[in-house]
Amino acid sequence: MTKNLLMWDETLFRDPLVFEIDFIPDEFRFREEQLSTLSFQIQPALRGARPMNSLCRGPPGTGKTTSIRKLFDEIEENTKKIACVHVNCKIDNTRYAILAKVYKRLAGHQPQPTGTSFKQVYDAVCRLLQKEDLTLILCLDDANYLLYENEINNVLYPLLRAHEEYESVRVGVIVIFSDMDVDFQKVFEIRVASVLRPTEVFFSPYSASEVEEILRMRVGQGFYPGVISEEILQLVVDQTMRGGDLRVGIDLLKRAGLLAERDARRSVSRDDICRAYEVSERFHLISLIRSLRDDEKAVLGVIASMSEGGSGMSAGEVHTRVKEEMGIGYTRYYEIVQKLDTIRLINLDYRAGRGRTREIGLRFAPEMVLAELG
Ligand SMILES: Nc1ncnc2c1ncn2[C@@H]1O[C@H](COP(=O)(O)OP(=O)(O)O)[C@@H](O)[C@H]1O
Ligand SMILES: [Mg+2]
Repeated sequence: MTKNLLMWDETLFRDPLVFEIDFIPDEFRFREEQLSTLSFQIQPALRGARPMNSLCRGPPGTGKTTSIRKLFDEIEENTKKIACVHVNCKIDNTRYAILAKVYKRLAGHQPQPTGTSFKQVYDAVCRLLQKEDLTLILCLDDANYLLYENEINNVLYPLLRAHEEYESVRVGVIVIFSDMDVDFQKVFEIRVASVLRPTEVFFSPYSASEVEEILRMRVGQGFYPGVISEEILQLVVDQTMRGGDLRVGIDLLKRAGLLAERDARRSVSRDDICRAYEVSERFHLISLIRSLRDDEKAVLGVIASMSEGGSGMSAGEVHTRVKEEMGIGYTRYYEIVQKLDTIRLINLDYRAGRGRTREIGLRFAPEMVLAELG
């Protein structure tokens, strides 16, 4: 065996956990301003007063979730007076599921699985907060998943007004949106907006040089020296900027490292990155499709089959087919295409010179989408 080949028990990874999706980096740069605003907002809670509410907004992969995790870790290290609960609304997307999460954090176990209503869990949560004299800080992460059936207002209203029914109960919320087009004036009902009064915290996309620095830190922590050359790092930075999400880069590094390792090479090649990109794109597509409801999948299917010819199409043309084939009305259809645009399955753009006509472009190869839709 030449010295450029790995021995069977050798690895390129100094620490493989560095590339896992729930890894919390020690070095978390470029979000100082956001973190300091968020921590200012919760300051009153440290003195037993009601915290102020925040609304975070920014595209995927801009460090929103990580910021909250860091903030919550810091709070919990420093005080026992605040209970922090982070809810991933992609998973827990009903008011009951959200309150059950809070209950579990406070009581240490799940509420009774059957026959418990939202109101019962809510009352139990408020009583626990009163009894323990705790302030609750609840983060609704990826709250775009609560926009259906008005769930966002249904959960916020009782929580923000808890003190009216339960004296001295203090609740602060941090709501996170990855959706850049959400109109907050429309999302929050007046009865909620009037008590929410959030401070907005914007998470801007990272620049290419910021992405480079973040990925360089990951590489240094996760791989042994020499595994990722300067040229390869630049390639990964380019792909990340194109994908618009830091996760793309982190995932590429991990997969390419595994490919090189499988071939017993000591460094990652350009070809590893290209192969990793194909796989990671497909996995990304699968996970996006999995998060869709049936009617959303159906609309995506129509868009994919109309894209097979290669040219673009207008939102109106697609709706005509969707209506014919599935009987989906315009309002729901429009909600669906906006969601598909938000999660970057499609691009919804105004067509130049055509007034308010919207052009739909699929962001993935149509054959791949149709294959995954089955
Ligand atoms: N400033 C940063 N420094 C280091 N890693 C970061 C930074 N911002 C984001 N990341 C990493 O990028 C990935 C996506 O970040 P995340 O906080 O989940 O983004 P969001 O919630 O905005 O989609 C995570 O793996 C996270 O560790
Ligand atoms: Mg997130």
